[in-house]
Amino acid sequence: MSTSERTPLEFVKSVNGLEKVVLREIHGSSVEVYLYGAHVTSWKNEHGEELLFISSKEIFKPPKPIRGGIPICFPQFSNLGPLELHGFARNRLWALDDDPPPLPPDVTNKVFLDLILRSTTEDLKIWPHSFEYRLRITLGPGGDLMLTSRVRNTGTDGKPFTFTFAYHTYFSVSDISEVRVEGLETLDYLDNCQKRERFTEQGDSLTFESEVDRIYLSTPTKIAVMDHEKKRTFLIRKDGLPDAVVWNPWDKKAKAMADFGDDEYKHMVCVEAAAVEKPITLKPGEEWRGRQELSVVNKLLDS
Ligand code: BG6
Repeated sequence: MSTSERTPLEFVKSVNGLEKVVLREIHGSSVEVYLYGAHVTSWKNEHGEELLFISSKEIFKPPKPIRGGIPICFPQFSNLGPLELHGFARNRLWALDDDPPPLPPDVTNKVFLDLILRSTTEDLKIWPHSFEYRLRITLGPGGDLMLTSRVRNTGTDGKPFTFTFAYHTYFSVSDISEVRVEGLETLDYLDNCQKRERFTEQGDSLTFESEVDRIYLSTPTKIAVMDHEKKRTFLIRKDGLPDAVVWNPWDKKAKAMADFGDDEYKHMVCVEAAAVEKPITLKPGEEWRGRQELSVVNKLLDS
């Protein structure tokens, strides 16, 4: 079914002429998505409260990726390969996907947008693998935000390709010192602050007192981010994405980033559903799916 027949989408020319699409749900929640990067820049609940962090220093100027929201890291997470940091999907212009292959049936009153990215001749020079990446962004009746990625190897050279991936979600929080992440206890992680050395999480939950940049391995499918000051819990459910990256740059790194306010680290935390430790391999014609579902409740839940 075509995107335009199915959903009441608003197309808006935004900063620097970049086009964004607004999805609205009848109870009042909304999502904004830039075609640049297929980047979700806003997710609001039914009271109009913003749930994602966007830097006040963001200038929305390609080819710079957008700082905040939900960047898509593909086909490379971080510097784990020859490409620019986090790959190129976050700074390409995506297209509307008018006729996506069907996905398992959804509840009918959901609002969704289908986008597509295909490898261009220029991309093939830096990453010589033909692919088709389809992203469905769905706003559920309760204001839940679902992202479903389908990546297909469309190569005709008979060769497989391999990639790493993350939904690099920046959650908006009242004060990072009041935030706790649950669901990662006892797991092994690679610490990006210590040359990716492997450690085991010892605490009952993860709290923040300095820079955190970790790749938690083989995590449960459900992770909770509790904001004690707001008395709010974000729930992340994920599928096909075994790892979870947790990042807060803290004060020194914040000051070093041109597109990030000096104190903004206090008001964000990235918890990223990812496939990093074991890269995904696709043979020609094969497809991979990776899904993240975000929901929010205005109380402190156990994960
Ligand atoms: C996180 C990485 O996912 O993204 C960090 O673990 C990195 O190491 C951060 O600094 C931000 O990356 P970028 O490229 O958006 O500045």
